[in-house]
Amino acid sequence: MNGKFQETMRAELERLEKEGLSLRIRTLDSEQGPACTIDGKYVVNLAANNYLGMIGRKDVKEAAKKAIDEFGVGSGAVKTIIGNTRLIVEAEKKLAKFKDVEDVLMYQAGLTANSGTIPALVHDGDLIFSDELNHASIIDGCRLSRAKIVPFKHCDVASLEEKMKEYDNEAGTKMVITDGVFSMDGDIAPLPDIVEVTKRHGAVTMVDDAHGEGVLGDHGRGIVNHFHLEGQVDVEVGTLSKAFGVVGGYVAGTHTLVEYLKNKSRPILFSSTMTPADAGAILKVVDILTESDDLVRRLWENATYFKARMKSYGFDTWRSETPITPIIIGDSQLAKNLSVKLFEKGVFAQSLGFPTVPTGLARIRCMLCSAHTKEQLNFAADMFHESALELGILKT
Ligand SMILES: Cc1ncc(COP(=O)(O)O)c(C=O)c1O
Repeated sequence: MNGKFQETMRAELERLEKEGLSLRIRTLDSEQGPACTIDGKYVVNLAANNYLGMIGRKDVKEAAKKAIDEFGVGSGAVKTIIGNTRLIVEAEKKLAKFKDVEDVLMYQAGLTANSGTIPALVHDGDLIFSDELNHASIIDGCRLSRAKIVPFKHCDVASLEEKMKEYDNEAGTKMVITDGVFSMDGDIAPLPDIVEVTKRHGAVTMVDDAHGEGVLGDHGRGIVNHFHLEGQVDVEVGTLSKAFGVVGGYVAGTHTLVEYLKNKSRPILFSSTMTPADAGAILKVVDILTESDDLVRRLWENATYFKARMKSYGFDTWRSETPITPIIIGDSQLAKNLSVKLFEKGVFAQSLGFPTVPTGLARIRCMLCSAHTKEQLNFAADMFHESALELGILKT
C-alpha cells in the first residue's frame, strides 16, 4: 500500500467532514416507495426520483419478471455484438412513438447517454454552449469531446445569445446544451427561446429531459411536448432511472442521429446494454403512461400541496417550478444537521452541499411522488417545521 497516497485521501476526507460536505450513504432495507425502511428505520421517503411510483407497481414488476424468465438476468454483450435483446428493440420503438420522434437509442444510464453522446457529436474545433448549471454528466460529456466549452448564465437566453454572437464567424459544429428541468433547483429551461436563438445562429440544440419525462407534457411526454417543440430539438437525452422507475438512459431524435450514435458512441460500442428486466419493465411503463395521465396529475397535486405547506411555514423553496422542491438552508453543516434530525423523526430527505450545489446554497432536496398520501406529506412538513425550530433555522 502506498502510504502517501492513502494519507492524501484521508486528509481530503477529513476536510470534507470538517466542512459538513462528507457523504453519509444510507442503505435501503425495503422496496423504494413513498415510505420505506432505511438503515432499519421506517420513514416517509422524500429523496427518491421515483416520481410516479413505478418502482413498486405490481404490473411493472410482473413485466420485469416475465422478461427475466424469457431472456435471463443480463444482456451478455454490448449492443453492437449481441446484447441487443428483442425487448430493447421493442422498447426503443415504443418510446420513440411516445416521444413523437423518429427513433430512440437505449443506453445503460442517463449518465452514459450524456457523457457518451456529446463526444460522438462534437469534437476538437467545435463549440459547445452550456448552461452553467447543467448536470455533471453533461459537463463530463463536454470535457470528453475536446470541443471549446462556453458556459452561459443559468436559463438566461440573452447571455446565450451574447456568447453565440462572439463566435458567429467560427467554423465547426456549434451545439447548445441545456438540462430541461434542473435537478437541484427544479426550474425549467426556457426551451422555446433557446431553440429560437440556437437556430438563428446555425447551431444544434440538445436537451437533457431526465427530470421532465413522466413529469412535464401531455401524459408525461417530457419538455419537448410541454413546449410543443416536436421536430425542433436535434438531440433529446433522457433517463429511465427516474419517473420510469428502472435503470437506463436514451437518446431520441432522427434515424440518422441514432444510426450515427450506434456506430460512434462509446457506451454503445464498449459497454453491455441494459438488462432484459429493465427493457421489459419500460415497455409496461410506457403503456401505463400512454393509457392514462392519472399518475402525472397526482404527482403535480402532491407537489403543489407540499410546496404550499412548506412555504406557509416560512421555508424558501427557491426557484422550483416542478416537483423537485429544494428547501434552501445555506450552510452545509446546518443542512446536514436538519437532514439527520428529520430522519430521527421519521422523514428521509437528503441534504446537498458543494460541489452538487453552489457554496452558501446548501439545501434539503425534497422529491415528490404521485404515491405520497396527504398524511405523509403533512407529517413530513410538520417534522420539517419542528426540526427547523429546534435547530434555530426558523423562529416561528
Ligand atoms: C439532469 C440529469 N441528467 C442525467 C442524470 C443521470 O441519470 P442516470 O441516473 O440514469 O444515470 C441525472 C441523474 O441524476 C440528472 O439529474
